[in-house]
Amino acid sequence: MLQSIHSTLAYAVLAVLLIAVINAFLGLSAKRNFTKKDRSLSLVALILTHIQLVVGLAVWVTSPLGKEAMSQMSNAALRLTAVEHPLVNILAIALITIGWSKHKKEESSNGKFKKIGFLYFAGLLFILSRIPWSNWMA
Ligand code: HEM
Ligand code: HEM
Repeated sequence: MLQSIHSTLAYAVLAVLLIAVINAFLGLSAKRNFTKKDRSLSLVALILTHIQLVVGLAVWVTSPLGKEAMSQMSNAALRLTAVEHPLVNILAIALITIGWSKHKKEESSNGKFKKIGFLYFAGLLFILSRIPWSNWMA
């Protein structure tokens, strides 16, 4: 069940994160004000990644493709789900959380869009680099 939550939530995480990134760069280039709506979108993206982190950790300790597979590190597919995906995604979520945290300290709308845009985008790229596509889409 945890695995199917993690698998389904992944669509929402990727979609909302992508929308938040595009929204931030559009706001930046239009030089408009950072509004309540921009804040809500960024916050929803943050919360989804945090929930995915907690579910991911639970999947990792319970699934045979997680911790158990750590003893078979010569197998590239197992190494991806057991090690690279968890580690790189924790890093990605840290980047996104830093983006959220730093946007709060910015006074200007321009500064807020920049922090959300660049740090969320970096996180998104990290996540995309380590999705176990063949498991997910199969
Ligand atoms: C935003 C971040 C994340 C996204 C978008 C994401 C997405 C995914 C997707 C699409 C799969 C394949 C699911 C399937 O087979 O249907 C997966 C599997 C997995 N994820 Fe994540 N994940 C994220 C973060 C994490 C984190 C932080 C951990 C652990 C700390 C983790 C642990 C795992 C494990 C162990 C599997 C293999 C589970 C199995 O198929 O039995 N994930 N993830
Ligand atoms: C291992 C689990 C988690 C860790 C390590 C973690 C870590 C963090 C950190 C460091 C921040 C601070 C960001 C800042 O400086 O503003 C934060 C903010 C936040 N987290 Fe998490 N989180 C986790 C799980 C969750 C879960 C499960 C949820 C929701 C269901 C959640 C919701 C939030 C929200 C809403 C904020 C933003 C607070 C605000 O600035 O308004 N987190 N988290």
